Amino acid sequence: MSETERKKVILSGIQPTGVFTLGNFMGPIRNWGPLQDEFDCIYFIADQHAITVRKEPAAFRKQTIESYALLLACGIDPKRSIAFIQSHNPNHAQLSWVLGCVTQFGELSRMTQFKDKAAKHADDINAGLFTYPVLMAADILTYNADVVPIGDDQRQHLELARNIAVRFNQRYGDTFTVPEGYFPKVGARIKSLQDPTKKMSKSDDNPNATVFILDDKDTIMRKFKRAVTDSDSEIRFAEGKDGINNLLTIYSCATGKTIEEAEKEFAGKGYGDFKLAVGETVADYLEPVRTEFARLMEDKTYLKECWTDGAQRAFRLSNKVLSKAYRKIGFVDYR
Ligand code: TRP
Repeated sequence: MSETERKKVILSGIQPTGVFTLGNFMGPIRNWGPLQDEFDCIYFIADQHAITVRKEPAAFRKQTIESYALLLACGIDPKRSIAFIQSHNPNHAQLSWVLGCVTQFGELSRMTQFKDKAAKHADDINAGLFTYPVLMAADILTYNADVVPIGDDQRQHLELARNIAVRFNQRYGDTFTVPEGYFPKVGARIKSLQDPTKKMSKSDDNPNATVFILDDKDTIMRKFKRAVTDSDSEIRFAEGKDGINNLLTIYSCATGKTIEEAEKEFAGKGYGDFKLAVGETVADYLEPVRTEFARLMEDKTYLKECWTDGAQRAFRLSNKVLSKAYRKIGFVDYR
């Protein structure tokens, strides 16, 4: 790629809501590192979004720092990519105000996540919860991001961001890039170890259902030993064998082997041995992330340097777009 040819910008915000699961990791997250070759990457911890739900300040601060460290531990290189904390760049909130003025009340009322969250937090339906998608649009548009990797729960918000961009551009002239969603082809869907018909979830009530990427080896082994299988005894991928299918998928993801290769490897073996082997493999697979996370958490000076540098670069980049939007709107120039 020549120097004048710009790489596409990929952008994503991650809520500081605790450690990722093995399912998150084997889905989108393990692609983060490799994506840096193809795109200019911007990743941030969405702490401003997080406060739409009440948070205990000390725990919240700790979670934000841990989430940032996790971002780096999962392969984001803070030199090649821009990795920062949302509240460190004031331009998101600045642009959010402007975009709110081209967003209709009715549009925001139709957001299903707002309706769900309002029902769940009926005692605190704050205005931030309502305008959250506008801030998300600002996150994206203030960097002229081309692509936004999102899960299904964020499709409607991205669609709104696109509509806002188009509307602003129509009203004031070309200003914002209209972002596309990014839905990677690969990415395994990992199921709960306790109910393999359900997705593996961060918030499962059963502590053995979910493997977290910072779990230690003993914990990982315990969870796999207790994984639910079936009354058959053959290790093969087949209809009605959700538990075994899930374990084969996990094994194949962690080793890069195909399902067929895995089936051959374990032909004739019992479920008990198979579960132990998958547990060992996953523990080894996650070990580098855990080690790197621990190292980063021991080095707060370095972490702080990284997020400060990230915020400064994010600020400079977003300023260009924000200034352009301000001019188009008719705000008076002051420099
Ligand atoms: N709303 C997203 C979530 O809850 C997080 C987020 C905030 C985001 N800003 C973003 C994602 C911008 C992509 C782009 O997961």
